[in-house]
Amino acid sequence: MTRQIRVLAINGSLRKQSFNGLALREAIALAPPGMDIDVYGGLGEIPPFNQDHADAGLAPVTALKHAIRKADAILLCTPEYNHSIPGVLKNALDWASFPASTDNALAGKPVAILGASQSPIGTARAQEQLRQVLAFVDMQVVNKPEVLIGLAGTRFDGGGRLVDEVALRLIAQLLANLKTLADKQVHAA
Ligand code: FNR
Repeated sequence: MTRQIRVLAINGSLRKQSFNGLALREAIALAPPGMDIDVYGGLGEIPPFNQDHADAGLAPVTALKHAIRKADAILLCTPEYNHSIPGVLKNALDWASFPASTDNALAGKPVAILGASQSPIGTARAQEQLRQVLAFVDMQVVNKPEVLIGLAGTRFDGGGRLVDEVALRLIAQLLANLKTLADKQVHAA
């Protein structure tokens, strides 16, 4: 018996009109049968990482770890800030992975990445760096396809819909590959 794959999507942009948020909306619509995507709403509440508070059971951190553990897979949607990963996203990954030896909520979890930014090579550098982090925290990363939505300001129409056919096709393929990986893990359990 197959069951629904629960995906937790995290947008590395907190901006209301975020292109990445719009891309996530398309991803939700493009999810293959058997996959549900929920967007995490609490990223902005997570405090700056401080190891002194790691045992304090901070509510936003506990909620993040709980949401990650409940999900079968993670979808990270990221802008690029100064050729790198947005601080809020890296901060959340640091909290979620700590302490690495006893409470890494990310370990073993399938994860896919997509990103939109204003440069022509939209988020290529941020995604490359994100892949390094995800490997170290022991996630199972979907390698292909890369979904790089460059020149993001030109890729969405006035209603906020992604009008790039290639990007839409790649998002659908990315989600299908994430589902294949998550299915294997869920049904092996
Ligand atoms: C940016 N932006 C940006 N874009 C890019 O492609 N490469 C980069 O290195 C940067 N650097 C950068 C730094 C900072 C501090 C900001 C605020 C922005 C532009 C970025 O792509 C643009 O703001 C996107 O719209 C951000 O994504 P959201 O918020 O629309 O999802």
